Amino acid sequence: MSAVVRRIGILTGGGDAPGLNAVIRAVVRSATTARIECVGIEDSFDGLLDPKHTRVLTVREVTGILRLGGTILGTTNRGNPFGAMVDADGAAVDYSNRVIENVRSLGLDALVVIGGDGTLAIAHRFQQRGIPIVAVPKTIDNDIADTSMTFGFDTAVAFATEALDRLHATAEAHHRVMVAEVMGRHAGWIALYAGIAGGADVILVPEIPFDFDAVSRVIQDREGVGARWSVVVAAEGAHPIGGERSVVRAGTADRHEKLGGIAELVADELERRTGKEARHVVLGHLQRGGTPTSYDRVLATRFGSFAVDLLRRGESGVMVALHAPDIVAVPLAQVVGRTRYVPLDGDVIKTARSVGISLGD
Ligand code: F6P
Repeated sequence: MSAVVRRIGILTGGGDAPGLNAVIRAVVRSATTARIECVGIEDSFDGLLDPKHTRVLTVREVTGILRLGGTILGTTNRGNPFGAMVDADGAAVDYSNRVIENVRSLGLDALVVIGGDGTLAIAHRFQQRGIPIVAVPKTIDNDIADTSMTFGFDTAVAFATEALDRLHATAEAHHRVMVAEVMGRHAGWIALYAGIAGGADVILVPEIPFDFDAVSRVIQDREGVGARWSVVVAAEGAHPIGGERSVVRAGTADRHEKLGGIAELVADELERRTGKEARHVVLGHLQRGGTPTSYDRVLATRFGSFAVDLLRRGESGVMVALHAPDIVAVPLAQVVGRTRYVPLDGDVIKTARSVGISLGD
C-alpha cells in the first residue's frame, strides 16, 4: 500500500461490544490529527453496497461517544458479501465486486474494520482482493486468536460479576442453587473470569465437558460444611460429557447458530439429583450493552490510535493486538479461522482449581 493515506473508511461488524464507539472516536481523532479524512460506513460491509450509507466523520461527530455502548455506525452479523448475502428472493449472491467498486468510488485508500471472527475473515478476503485493511479485534467473548484481550470483555465480566454477587445473596437467603448463563459460544473466558471474581462454586466452560455427578457432589458437599446454597456459572457453549451444546436455532448460510438453555438444563438436573431448589438466569445481551469500563475505553482507544499509526506507516493486512503491555500488529492471515480457547493447563484454570472452584470435571 502507498504510504500516503488521505481518506479511510471505518466500519463495525458482528455483534456489538462495549468500546466500539471508543475505537471509532480514537480512529477519527488520530486520523484527523494526521490530516486523514474518515468516512463512517453503516451496518458493516452492507454500507458499502450503496455509498448513500456512508458519511464523513469529523471530531464533532464523535464527541461524547466515548462512554456509549453500541456503535454509532450500526452493525450486523448477517450476510457476507462473498456469496452469503441473500437477495429479496432468499438466493445467495456475491456482492464483493460491488463493495470493491464503492470503496474505489468513495476514494477510500484503506479500511479500518472493527469486528470479530466472521468480520475479520471477510476483511481478509477484501485485503486479498487489493483493499488495504487494518483490523481491530472485537468480541466480549475474548476468543480472537493472537491478542491476549479484546475490548468489551472486561465490561462483560464486570457485569456478570455483579450479577453473581446478587445471586449469592438470594441463593443464600433461600438455600438454593442459582445457575447463571453467560455468553461464550466457543470459549469460556467470561464464565471463568466472572466465576473467579464472583466467587462461584462451579464454573462450566465449553472447553471442559462437565460431569453431572461431579457437579451434584460439589453442591451436596457444601451442605456438609454448612453452606446450604451454591452459585454455578455456565458459558452458553458448555455441555455435559457426551452431550451437545444447547441450541435454540440452527445456523444458516447467513445466520449463526443461536445458543441458549444450558443454565436451565443444569438447574433442572441439579434440582432432580440433589433435591435442592434450583433457579436459573440468562444474562444474555445485558452483557453486551451498557457503558464500557475504563479498562475497555483505554484498550479501545489504544487499538484505534494504533490502527491509524499503522496506516500512516503504509501497513495493511494486519490486525492490532494486545501483547501485554504492548499493542502490536499481527498478520490477518494468521488470525482468521482460529479461536483463542481457554488453555486447560493455563494459569487461570489452575487458579480456579487451587481456590476450590469446581470446573465440573
Ligand atoms: O460473539 C459474541 C456473542 O456474544 C456470543 O457469545 C453469542 O453467542 C452471540 O454473540 C450472540 O449473538 P446474537 O446477538 O446474534 O444473538
